[in-house]
Amino acid sequence: MPETRILQAIDDDMKDAVREATALLRAGEIVALPTETVYGLAADALNPSAVAKVFAAKERPSFDPLIVHIASRGDLKKVAIVPAEIAETVAKLTATFWPGPLTIILPKHPDIPDLVTSGLPTVAVRQSAHPVFRAINKELDRPIAAPSANRFGRISPTSASAVMKELGGRIPLIIDAGACAEGVESTIISIEPRDGKKPVFRLHRAGPITKEQLQEFGKVEKVKEKTGDLPHAPGQLPSHYAPLTPFILLENPEDFKPEPGKKYGLISYRGEDDSPYVNLHDWETVESLSPGSGKLAEAAIRLFFVMRLMDEAGLDAIIAEPVSETGLGVAIMDRLRRAAG
Ligand code: TXA
Ligand code: MG
Repeated sequence: MPETRILQAIDDDMKDAVREATALLRAGEIVALPTETVYGLAADALNPSAVAKVFAAKERPSFDPLIVHIASRGDLKKVAIVPAEIAETVAKLTATFWPGPLTIILPKHPDIPDLVTSGLPTVAVRQSAHPVFRAINKELDRPIAAPSANRFGRISPTSASAVMKELGGRIPLIIDAGACAEGVESTIISIEPRDGKKPVFRLHRAGPITKEQLQEFGKVEKVKEKTGDLPHAPGQLPSHYAPLTPFILLENPEDFKPEPGKKYGLISYRGEDDSPYVNLHDWETVESLSPGSGKLAEAAIRLFFVMRLMDEAGLDAIIAEPVSETGLGVAIMDRLRRAAG
C-alpha cells in the first residue's frame, strides 16, 4: 500500500474531495470519511471485495458486522425489508432522527452481501448527517458500509490525524473535515413490535440519541450482554475502545491506591481545582472532558481525543473520573467502562 493521503474537505476543497473519494469507492477502494459521530472506514456496501478490504485494514474479525449508511430515507428499502408490524415506528423514528446518529437493526435486503452483516439475517442502517459524508453517499448512489476507522478494539477516531495514527499506510485516502460534532458512535437499536401497544426498543449500544429521546416512541430496554456467546453488537464486547496504557474508571476516589514512583494521569469531568478527583493525587497530567462548565455534550466530543492524548503521554496508568449517568452520560460511561475492560 502506498502512502495514505489526506484531502481537506472544507469550504472550496469540498467538491474535489467528494469527487476523489467517490471515484475511489466506485473503483472498489476503501476511504476514511468524516461522519457526525466518529470517522468511518467506508466501502461500497454492495461490493464484497471492497468490504473485505475494510475487515483487513481494521484487522476486524469477520463475525463483527458493519453498519450500512444510506443517502436518503427513500433508500432504506434498498438495504432492508421493514416488517409491516414496525413500519409505522420506523417511519416515525427515521423522520425524527435521520439524518443523524441513530442506527436501526432491521431484516436485511438480499442485495446486501453476507460479509457486511457477518451472515446475520439483519442489517444495521443509518443515514449520516455529516454534509461531506452525505455528499459522497449521494454521489456514489450506493449504500456505504462503514465501521469506525480504527484498528479493531482500539479508540474510535474523531479527527483525520487520529485516523492516520490508526490506519496510516493501510488505506489510500482520508477525507479531513475537522473534528466530529458528536464524538461518540451512533445509538444502535432493534425494534420489537407489541400488539396494540408501543414497541420495545432493544438498546444494543448507547449513543448520542438518548433513552429519553427514544422513550417518546417506545419502551427502551438494554440488551443483556451474554458471555461465551456471539455478542449482539461486538462494539459491546466488555473490552473495547482500549488504550494501550492501563485504564481505570475510578468510581470511588477512596479506592485509588497509587504505587510509589508510578506516573498517573487523570481524565477529569470538569477539572476544577476543588474537585475531589483533581485533589486526590499529584497527577502527572490532568485533562478535562468539559473544562469548567461540565457539559455532557462537550465531554462526548472530547472523550476519544482525550483518551488518545493520555494514551500517548507515557503514563503507567490512566485514571478516569465518572460522569453523571443521565442522557448522553450513559454513552460516555459505557465507553469509559469498556476502555477499563
Ligand atoms: O456512529 C457510528 O455508528 C459509526 C459511524 C462510522 O457511522 N460506525 C460505527 O461502526 O461505530 P462500528 O462498526 O465501529 O460499530 C458498529 C456496531 C458493531 O458493534 C457491530 O457489531 C454492530 O454495530 N452491528 C452491526 N450490524 C449489526 C447487526 N445486524 N446486529 C447487531 N449488531 C450489529
Ligand atoms: Mg467501532
